[in-house]
Amino acid sequence: RPKITINTLRTLYSQREPITMLTATNYPSAVFVEKSGIEICLVGDSLAMVELGYESTTQITMDEMLHHCKAAARGAKSPFLVADMPFGSYEMGSLDAVKNAIRFIKEGNMEAVKLEGGIEIAETIQKITSIGIPVMGHLGLTPQRRTSLGGFRVQGNTAKKALKLLEDAKALQEAGCFALVLEAIPEIVAAHTTNNLKIPTIGIGAGVHTSGQVLVQQDMLGIFDRFVPRFCKQYASLDNTIVEALRSYRDEVKTGVFPAKSNCYPMAETELKKFME
Ligand code: KIV
Ligand code: NA
Repeated sequence: RPKITINTLRTLYSQREPITMLTATNYPSAVFVEKSGIEICLVGDSLAMVELGYESTTQITMDEMLHHCKAAARGAKSPFLVADMPFGSYEMGSLDAVKNAIRFIKEGNMEAVKLEGGIEIAETIQKITSIGIPVMGHLGLTPQRRTSLGGFRVQGNTAKKALKLLEDAKALQEAGCFALVLEAIPEIVAAHTTNNLKIPTIGIGAGVHTSGQVLVQQDMLGIFDRFVPRFCKQYASLDNTIVEALRSYRDEVKTGVFPAKSNCYPMAETELKKFME
């Protein structure tokens, strides 16, 4: 596979070809992204919940994120690599944000970072992009603010909120974002926002008129046990497949079916004789 760069993404956008993005949290899931042909591999902070079992994405630290970024980068060589800056790593000022963004490049082997928020973080984003680190924005349902949003729920669904979202989107574009994630907003709002921008929008629960789509890998494979968001399509139910496989293993050990001869190491006849004497 040829390496996907920011130029590849620009070309896809200008040709109106939908951009595909999927999360990865470790080496094997990143290899799946690599093999699938998906263009962007996101090490999303959703891994706090789907990989680490935390209640909220706000609990994950910089060091935990970097640990997963490194593993994912070893598996996804061709996709464009984006990492979520975790809650607490960019809100306290540009200096702190720039320092942490640099860690994702230097230590995490990522190519770009994603930050949640609008106008209020535009200046911070401008600082990060000005030193040559591509930034992806994230508007609508921003899970790091779940508490103040009152839960995982649709955003931008009043005229006023939709206009605010468009204002935020323009501010992020102005700050230098190369793309924006739009999460859990009405399809018409996503379409209108997309049409008023010169950078691609990547939707999740935002309908079909965005410039691309993103899903969380564990959600779409059916390996997250807590809930399935409305906007997620499950392309497989791997949880059943995996539990069945584990049960078969357990049963076969209990009944002596596993390990079979084919799983065992033979010994040369001559050696065996000597050994038995
Ligand atoms: O953390 C994540 O997986 C995300 C995507 C859903 C956009 O931010
Ligand atoms: Na995220």
